[in-house]
Amino acid sequence: LANGLGITPPMGWNSWNHFSCFINETLIRETADALVSTGLAELGYQYVNIDDCWAEQNRDSEGYFVPKKSTFPSGIKALAEYVHSKGLKLGIYSDAGYLTCSQKMPGSLGYEQKDADTFASWGIDYLKYDNCNNGGLKLMERYPRMTRALMRTGRPIFFSLCEWGDMHPALWGAKLGNSWRTTSDINDSWESMVSRADQNEVYAEYARPGGWNDPDMLEVGNGGMTNDEYIVHFSIWAISKAPLLIGCDVRNMTRETMDIIGNKEVIAVNQDPLGIQAKKVRMEGDLEVWAGPLSGYKTAIVLLNRSLKPSPITANWDDIGIPPKTVVEARDLWKHETLKKKFMDKMTVSIGPHSCRMFVLTPLS
Ligand code: DGJ
Repeated sequence: LANGLGITPPMGWNSWNHFSCFINETLIRETADALVSTGLAELGYQYVNIDDCWAEQNRDSEGYFVPKKSTFPSGIKALAEYVHSKGLKLGIYSDAGYLTCSQKMPGSLGYEQKDADTFASWGIDYLKYDNCNNGGLKLMERYPRMTRALMRTGRPIFFSLCEWGDMHPALWGAKLGNSWRTTSDINDSWESMVSRADQNEVYAEYARPGGWNDPDMLEVGNGGMTNDEYIVHFSIWAISKAPLLIGCDVRNMTRETMDIIGNKEVIAVNQDPLGIQAKKVRMEGDLEVWAGPLSGYKTAIVLLNRSLKPSPITANWDDIGIPPKTVVEARDLWKHETLKKKFMDKMTVSIGPHSCRMFVLTPLS
């Protein structure tokens, strides 16, 4: 969407994966504080996104949204002011239907302009727009209305389409929004995570600055996967130019979690100005090579072992798009070291079970 936003994939936090409907204004404020105090804000995580369940079940007598009095007593405008005072941005959630998925608050269908104006007047910077309870109305009778309504407000608001991938939103999403979900909801397990990575990969060529494929939010730090599996999760999301929306409780993170979501070098791959999503360029059983170009003739690769036993994996220049005879230097983004050995035509490294290694290759000749 040509609103000047999402020139690189959005980075931030969202309440849903960890807190579902158990949210309130204190949590949002403390999360903003924690993003700043942990250093995550400085690394680029700027959006603090409230998901479902923030509003009263009923609109007011004039049809306006009412923030839930028991959980957001100070209102959303005050929250936006607080979040902005921390140098961050506030995101909110609605639905292109009559009720949201939790059924606990109204959707925006038929109220698009009113709600867009409300969000703009509150100082909202990001809208996630879900797809439940839509009365069977066509997508094109629902999503474009909100796109236009947001544009009419004049406020730049990142627009995240949450259609879940059934209608191949990659094919039309870039006209309407800044990102579009390519999958149903992720859960905190290896199988769920890798299957979302695969479904999202199919649409790689549709990602570009201003419009990104969204395989759903991060589960890193929520406890259902091993550390190595979370490293795979973050590496694949980063190289796939996915939105990096943290889904854990950032107020109570382990060092291991922070080392993953705070990995500057991996974030830099995600935020590279070229904005080209990596593809799975080779697959031999459970052994995979994912690769994508970066600015400056560099290439990012993830060597992924989906099996339960350690194995070597080879990246061939032929597969990853580096010209033959090119000698490269390899930077290991998780070990934070540049390998002494130089590589020509291919590179083979050993990878542990349910693990990956991620490199940036820089041509030397
Ligand atoms: C479905 C979405 O896909 C989730 O990410 C979350 O927003 C829930 N709805 C909220 O009800």
